[in-house]
Amino acid sequence: MHDPFDITGHAEATDTLAVLDGAGRTYQAGSVAVEALRPQDLIIRRGDYIAVMGPSGSGKSTLLHVLGCLDRPTAGRYLLEGRDISRLADRELAAVRNLQIGFVFQRFHLLRDESALRNVELPLLYAGIARSERRQRAAEALEAVGLAPRARHEPGRLSGGEQQRVALARALVKRPRLLLADEPTGNLDTVSGARILELIEAQNGHGTAVVMITHDPEVAARAATRLLMRDGRMSRADA
Ligand SMILES: Nc1ncnc2c1ncn2[C@@H]1O[C@H](COP(=O)(O)OP(=O)(O)O)[C@@H](O)[C@H]1O
Ligand SMILES: [Mg+2]
Repeated sequence: MHDPFDITGHAEATDTLAVLDGAGRTYQAGSVAVEALRPQDLIIRRGDYIAVMGPSGSGKSTLLHVLGCLDRPTAGRYLLEGRDISRLADRELAAVRNLQIGFVFQRFHLLRDESALRNVELPLLYAGIARSERRQRAAEALEAVGLAPRARHEPGRLSGGEQQRVALARALVKRPRLLLADEPTGNLDTVSGARILELIEAQNGHGTAVVMITHDPEVAARAATRLLMRDGRMSRADA
C-alpha cells in the first residue's frame, strides 16, 4: 500500500496521474481569509480508488475542485500528467477539464430539455469532436450504463438513478483518466446507489483513477484508500 501523501520522486514515476505539491486553496470572504484546503502534498496514481470523508465545511469539495481544474490552488502546485495546472491560462485549464476529467455530482446537473443522448454528447461538442464520432461515443457510453433504450428521453422522464447513470455516461464519454465524484449516491435509493457504485468501480477496473467524496462509511469502505478531511487538512482515515 503506497502512502498517498508521499510525493517524493513522483516526477519520474510513469504511474503518477496527479500530484498536489504543497497545494492549498484560500478563499477571501470579505476581510476574512478561509483556508479551505491547507497546503499539502497528495499523489494520485493511475487506477487509484480514493474515498474522501469528513464533516461539512471541511474542504472536500474544494479539494475536488482543485483536482478537477475547476479552480486553481492559491498556494503550491497542482500537476496533472506532469503539467503544472496552476500556471495554465483559463482557456487551457478549461480544455484540460473538458477532455481529461469526468465529474459526477450529488445533483445530476443534466440539461432538462435535452435528451439523454444529447446530454452525454455535450462534453464532446465542447471539445470540438465531429458529430458522427460524438453520436457514436455518446451511444456507447449510454449503452455502458445500461441506458441505450432511454437515449431519446429527457431527464424528467427518467428516475433519479437513471439520471445519475446519464450523468455518469456524460463523465465517461470523455474517457477520462480521472473521475471525480461528489456524493454520487447521496440522492439515490440503495439499489440505484449500488448500481452507480458498481459502474464507477467497473470504470476504475479499466484503469480510471477515482476520487469520491462520501458520507457513507460503507461506501468509503469499498475504496482502496480512505482519506479524512478536517479543517482543510487530509489524513489517512484508517491510520
Ligand atoms: N467560493 C467560496 N468562497 C468563500 N468560501 C468558500 C468558498 N467555497 C468554499 N468556501 C469555504 O471553504 C470551506 C470548505 O468548503 P467546502 O470545500 O465546500 O467543504 P465541504 O465540501 O467539505 O463541505 C468552508 O468553510 C466554506 O465555507
Ligand atoms: Mg461539499
